[in-house]
Amino acid sequence: MKTTFSIIKADVGGCPGHAKVNEKLIELAKEKLKKAKEQGIIKDFFVTNCGDDLELIMTHDKGENNESIHGLAWNVFKEASELAKQLGFYGAGQDLLKDAFSGNVRGLGPGIAEMEFTERKSEPIVAFMMDKTEPGAFNLPIYRMFADPFNTAGLIIDPKLHSGFKFEVWDIKEHKRVFLNTPEEMYDLLALIGAKSRFVIKRVYPRSSLPEDEPVAVVSTEKLFQIAGEYIGKDDPVAAVRAQSGLPALGEVLEPFAFPHLVSGWMRGSHNGPIMPVANKQAKCTRFDGPPRVIAIGFQVKNGMITGHEDLFDDPAFDYARNKAQEIADYMRRHGPFEPHRLPLEEMEYTTLPKVMEKLKGRFEDVE
Ligand code: 13P
Ligand code: 13P
Ligand code: MG
Ligand code: MG
Repeated sequence: MKTTFSIIKADVGGCPGHAKVNEKLIELAKEKLKKAKEQGIIKDFFVTNCGDDLELIMTHDKGENNESIHGLAWNVFKEASELAKQLGFYGAGQDLLKDAFSGNVRGLGPGIAEMEFTERKSEPIVAFMMDKTEPGAFNLPIYRMFADPFNTAGLIIDPKLHSGFKFEVWDIKEHKRVFLNTPEEMYDLLALIGAKSRFVIKRVYPRSSLPEDEPVAVVSTEKLFQIAGEYIGKDDPVAAVRAQSGLPALGEVLEPFAFPHLVSGWMRGSHNGPIMPVANKQAKCTRFDGPPRVIAIGFQVKNGMITGHEDLFDDPAFDYARNKAQEIADYMRRHGPFEPHRLPLEEMEYTTLPKVMEKLKGRFEDVE
C-alpha cells in the first residue's frame, strides 16, 4: 500500500490586505478536513498558512490528481472564499480562477505538490510553503539539497546517496520537460535552472536504494498569469521533500535556507527580494508586503497517518538568516522603482505595468 502526501494551497482572501490568512478561515478548513477524515476520504491532515496562502496538507491512499481529494480541497477553498467575501477580506477568492471543478484542481488556480510513495520504516517529510514569490524560488534550495556536496555531506560520505539524483525540470513557457542526472549532468542542470522564471524543478527521483519511479521531492509549478491571462496575485509555491535513510538528512534539507537567496514576486509580484525563513507565527507579510517568506513544517508519517509535526524554522539557528534577509531587504528597497529590485521588463509583462505603458504609447516620437 502506497501513501500519498498532498499539499494543495490557494489564496482565498487576506486579512489585512495580502498579509495573512485570518484564523477564521483556518478554522473553517480544519473543520472541513476533520469531517473528511471521519468519512474516510483522507487519512490525516494539517492546516496552516504562509502569509495570505491557505495550505491544506493531506495524507491518503488515493494517488496524485485524485478527484475526491482535489474536489475536497476545491470545496474547502470555495467555502473559505465565501466566508472571506462575507467578512470583506482582501482579494476574497483570489486564486480560484475558474468556476467549475472538473476532476482535479490543475489549471483552476490552486497550487499543488503531491507525491505517492512506498513508506519506509520511518518517513520524515518536510512541507515547505512560500509567500510573495514564484515556483522558481525553489530551484536553488532543491538543487543544494540533492546535488550540492557543500550543502549535503551525505552525497560524499553516505554510499546510499553517492549515485546522485534525477531531476525533472519543466520549461514553463514551452510546456516541455527534461530529465537530468546529477552529478554527471550538473552543469546542464544549472544552465537551465539558473533561469528560474522559465525552468523550474518539478520533481527529484532517487537513483539507488529507493524505488526509482517514486519521487523524493515535488514542487508546485502552477503559473497564475497563464490561467488568468493577467496579474491577479503571485504563484506562491509549495514543495514536499522526503528526508533521511538514503536521502538528504533533515538538517541537509533545511540547510539551504540558512542563505536568504534572492527571489522574484515581492510587492505586486514585481520585485526581487530575499526569502526569509520564518516560524509559522512570523509568516505575515508586512514590510512592503514581504519580504518573501518560507515556512517549513516537518512531519513523521506512519501508515498514512501524521504521527508528529514540528515548525522547523521556529529556531534561533535561523535568526542569522532572518537578520541577513532584513539587511538585504533594506538594501534592495533603497533601489525603489529601479531594476534589479524591480523585475526586468520582460517579467513585468504579466503585471499592471503594460497598462501604464499603453497610456504613453502615442507620445513616443521617432529619433535619428
Ligand atoms: P540516515 O542515514 O538515517 O539518513 O542518517 C543520517 C543522519 O541523520 C546524520 O545526520
Ligand atoms: P499575493 O500573491 O500573496 O496575494 O500577493 C499579491 C501582491 O501583489 C502583494 O503585494
Ligand atoms: Mg493575496
Ligand atoms: Mg500569497
